[in-house]
Amino acid sequence: MAEGLKIGVLASGRGSNFQAIIDAVNAGKINAKIAVCISDVSDAYALERARKNLTATEFIDPKQYKDRAEYDRKIVETLKKYDVGLVLLAGYMKLVTPVIVDEFRNKIINIHPALLPSFPGLHVQRKAIEYRAKFSGCTVHFVDAGMDTGPIIIQAVVPVFQDDTEDSLAARILKQEHRIYPEAVRLFAEGRLSVQGRRVIIKDAPESHDEFLVNPPVRE
Ligand code: GRF
Repeated sequence: MAEGLKIGVLASGRGSNFQAIIDAVNAGKINAKIAVCISDVSDAYALERARKNLTATEFIDPKQYKDRAEYDRKIVETLKKYDVGLVLLAGYMKLVTPVIVDEFRNKIINIHPALLPSFPGLHVQRKAIEYRAKFSGCTVHFVDAGMDTGPIIIQAVVPVFQDDTEDSLAARILKQEHRIYPEAVRLFAEGRLSVQGRRVIIKDAPESHDEFLVNPPVRE
């Protein structure tokens, strides 16, 4: 069954990062197939994006399961049904338990809209503004059992302007998310990522890392 990498996406919301992955796969930039999109929210727009792409969808209703571990056992069973070799969290609002993490160690990736380890958790764009941070950004990282604590793969930096609102900062960050998430998935699909403790080694990364840097920030 060595037919190439199959991706499973877990999403709870609008799925714009999922769309960026779909587009990169369809453009031939990522050598993988998106096998399934699973959601805990029946009307998540991410599911609609999957359907438009002719990708299988599964809504798994959390209310039908007695606790998070049991729910995650169903998720694992579903991911295995689709022979998934890489799990992408794309705006997935549930914390994944060790049931998933142990099964897919170093094979689950998440995108977070802040420069980890600063501002883990929720509402992080607002927190960055309230904290008067001068820079924020986004982080693509492997997922471990903690909240936003796994080894960092790629980050992108954006400025935080004095008059930013939560929405204006989120939009600036999102643009970078759509750039670096597909990039990290491409590296994974090419077999170029390995994890040593907290360190993610990128095989054949350019010395300067230029390919991962953000263009100099400009005011929109
Ligand atoms: C993104 O900001 C992502 O970083 C965070 O949740 C948001 C999801 O947005 N994990 P979308 O559903 O991908 O549009």
